Amino acid sequence: MSQISDLVASKLRDIPDFPKPGVLFKDFTPLIADGPALGELVRDIARRYEGHIDVVVGIEARGFILGAAVAYELGLGMVPVRKAGKLPGETLKESYALEYGTAEIEVHTDAFEPGQRVLVLDDVLATGGTAEACAQLVERAGAKVTAIEVVLELAFLEGRKRLADRPVNAILTL
Ligand code: PRP
Repeated sequence: MSQISDLVASKLRDIPDFPKPGVLFKDFTPLIADGPALGELVRDIARRYEGHIDVVVGIEARGFILGAAVAYELGLGMVPVRKAGKLPGETLKESYALEYGTAEIEVHTDAFEPGQRVLVLDDVLATGGTAEACAQLVERAGAKVTAIEVVLELAFLEGRKRLADRPVNAILTL
């Protein structure tokens, strides 16, 4: 493991039975509460994409925290992809399957310039439904997904398979 993945592994906290019985939740609040750790994480991500992207997309909610920080580090803007009903302007919407039912996320129709190169950021890649829907939104809005970056990938859920040829990088894979 690299230094940064060791750091992430040491700062994630396991919370049993959240959000429901039987699920072991990987809580990254200790990681972002630690100033030096947050700085290392943000700089590690920023370095990977410097010069290769035009804008950062953060997925609600934890992707906002990383997205804004990485965008700031690179001197770029950050576009939020939000749960349905939260964005004030005209939006594009994608639905994706949850274990029970469906969820919807949105982006502003005019969030991107045509052809802009986008880094999609989130904390966790699990089933891949959220990241796939987000990538589809970015592409429908006329931009290009340069990469999808997550702090933690739960590989046994095979979320990567849903992301087709889009490059995916996970700092830590479990
Ligand atoms: C979590 C996580 C990712 C998504 C990953 O968000 O932050 O966005 O689930 O799961 P998937 O790969 O199976 O789609 P959640 O939906 O819990 O929303 P929140 O961040 O607003 O709590």
